[in-house]
Amino acid sequence: MAYLLGIDIGTSGTKTVLFDEKGNSIASSLREYPLYQPKNGWAEQDPEDWWNAVCGTINDVISKSGINSADIKGVGLSGQMHGAVLLDKEHKVLRKAIIWCEQRSSAECDEITNTIGKERLIEITANPALTGFTASKILWVKNNEPEIFDKVEKILLPKDYIRFRLTGEFATEVSDASGMQLMDIPKRCWSDEVISKLGLRKSMLGELYESYEVTGKVHKQAAELTGLKEGTPVVGGAGDQAAGAVGNGIVRSGIVSSTIGTSGVVFAFSENVSIDPKGRVHTFCHAVPNTWHIMGVTQAAGLSLKWFRDNLCKDEMATADLMKIDPYILMDQAAEKVPVGANGIVYLPYLMGERTPHLDPDARGVFFGLSAKHEKQDLLRAVMEGVVYSLKDCFEIIKEMGVDVKEVRASGGGGKSKLWRQMQSDVFGTEITTINSSEGPALGVALLAGVGTGVYSSVPEACDAVIKVVTRQNPDMSANSKYQKVYGIYKQLYKSLSNDYKELSKILNDN
Ligand code: XUL
Repeated sequence: MAYLLGIDIGTSGTKTVLFDEKGNSIASSLREYPLYQPKNGWAEQDPEDWWNAVCGTINDVISKSGINSADIKGVGLSGQMHGAVLLDKEHKVLRKAIIWCEQRSSAECDEITNTIGKERLIEITANPALTGFTASKILWVKNNEPEIFDKVEKILLPKDYIRFRLTGEFATEVSDASGMQLMDIPKRCWSDEVISKLGLRKSMLGELYESYEVTGKVHKQAAELTGLKEGTPVVGGAGDQAAGAVGNGIVRSGIVSSTIGTSGVVFAFSENVSIDPKGRVHTFCHAVPNTWHIMGVTQAAGLSLKWFRDNLCKDEMATADLMKIDPYILMDQAAEKVPVGANGIVYLPYLMGERTPHLDPDARGVFFGLSAKHEKQDLLRAVMEGVVYSLKDCFEIIKEMGVDVKEVRASGGGGKSKLWRQMQSDVFGTEITTINSSEGPALGVALLAGVGTGVYSSVPEACDAVIKVVTRQNPDMSANSKYQKVYGIYKQLYKSLSNDYKELSKILNDN
């Protein structure tokens, strides 16, 4: 039997999963590490913490599974995207990695837009300059820590730093590298124009591969530390979103995923490079050769429900604790009692500003339509509906771009709720499905490792071999027509409030 290893270097921890070639999870292990926030809005991690977690979890899964490490045919790496790991000429880490979820580089985003030109930047990198992306983080170091920048020899993404520690190779792959904003996305190569205009050198970046290609082999020292066999191939892998999409079977036209984690992501496969000229959704290379993906991101999806739970559902949490069940089950039961439309309450989920479709850091959450007759469960249902409207905003742009949506696959923590899935089906007016695995990114990159080492012949063939739809829910069209009307109000509310958001932000910043 051939085994494949998927390693997902996430923000809260690293999860390593060993799969057999049928996609069954044989053993898994998770190790957490800290997030450093030296200032408000900053987020950094220590690459050494990632490496220790990777070594620990690989050792764990090999010993738990009892297999011979020689039977692991290949390793795939996934991870948090966009982070900047800077190495000096001795290949030592120069400073903590500045990671995806922080905002310090807005001045550098203006610098990038002015240097390259707004339209030219979108034409080449398929996206406007964003603080989340790697390029602005590198320029921040150049502008604010020149003594460190002068020593930079190599710039790696989080999972690619782990590749370097495993194989000694400086390499990356197209899906994750798309989020550095240094690639020519239509041509799937580094952009000499962007790199040189930003004062960087191509030699600082890793060699660029397709996601399934073998990028190197586990070297002796890494083999001793991890328990892997020396010489085990390591394939490109993918950024966490593209990896999760492969693990959900989003590798053909017509199937789109809707993931409710902390944030919400609508991910669509595309055979062509399709770019939103307003930059409201991200267009990146997909982990399937010669294909791309479009991704709409809503900032506070699961986070909205978690905020509601933590602040307004203390009783439900205590009861759930006694019953030894998840409080979200009790919250679902309460929300289910409220009719479609939440008795007239509309919730805007902008607790963390919004990416798609507004690109507005100042937007904030709203409950609209409150009256004295409302009760807590009306607000709860409104939160769940508002999150689904924000995902619908992503769908609308993706459809506007010509993407065909036949089936929506629900995933993430929110995808576990039958009620939330039905709301999605009713609001989108499409069938919503779930699949037989919830391992997402780790499964996705294990499948890529299987393609790179000849276990499967292509990424779609790998997905067909292991991924099966296990639940299907269809839209109730009378609920759909009610939701359409409320969605109209939802959209109008942002327009009505957008100036007020700016005013409020000014007042708060003046204090
Ligand atoms: C994608 C994104 C996140 C991070 C962290 O653009 O910002 O998916 O990769 O998970």
